[in-house]
Amino acid sequence: MEKVEYVVRPIASEDELKKVIEINAVTLPEHYPYFFWLEHYELWRDIFLVALAGERIVGYNMCRIEYGVGHVKRGIVKQGHVVSIAVLPEFRQRGIATALMTSAMNSMKKKYGADEVYLEVRVSNEPAIRLYEKLGFKKVRVLKRYYLDGEDAYLMAREL
Ligand SMILES: CC(C)(COP(=O)(O)OP(=O)(O)OC[C@H]1O[C@@H](n2cnc3c(N)ncnc32)[C@H](O)[C@@H]1OP(=O)(O)O)[C@@H](O)C(=O)NCCC(=O)NCCS
Repeated sequence: MEKVEYVVRPIASEDELKKVIEINAVTLPEHYPYFFWLEHYELWRDIFLVALAGERIVGYNMCRIEYGVGHVKRGIVKQGHVVSIAVLPEFRQRGIATALMTSAMNSMKKKYGADEVYLEVRVSNEPAIRLYEKLGFKKVRVLKRYYLDGEDAYLMAREL
């Protein structure tokens, strides 16, 4: 496989946000209204990351910070939530999603003091489930009919 150099950094402009939305449109069935993207862009830019190969955005990881009942820790905790992550098909299996996840988890802990990180994933999405397991996430529970088409999700989480 040809080697691709890439850089992971926080999203920098609304123009980049539009590119991210284009990637989401072709890689995932879950789409969101513009204000939802903009909310993450404005409030949690440190953990809204893009991966660039040269000048081109080839992947993204949009996260947020919440308070809630811990999935792996006890009581009410500060949680990083991975809302949406994707890499363009031709740039996959080169470690880009791993870099997007490790960088986001680092910032969740260091910049926001988050105690744990969690996400939802389709029970059929094996590449993503493997990625998260490799990063130390565990399946915490099944969320029945979580997706609009009726598919269940695993809620997966790990300590930070
Ligand atoms: C899931 C996704 C983000 C992974 O991106 P990626 O950049 O290819 O991931 P990485 O190269 O960092 O892979 C890390 C690990 O994930 C697992 N993995 C990734 N793609 C895989 C595949 N097609 N089959 C099996 N395991 C896979 C492997 O364990 C891999 O480690 P390895 O290379 O040592 O085997 C990408 O496939 C994608 O964008 N899918 C569509 C969108 C999506 O499903 N997002 C997740 C929603 S919850």
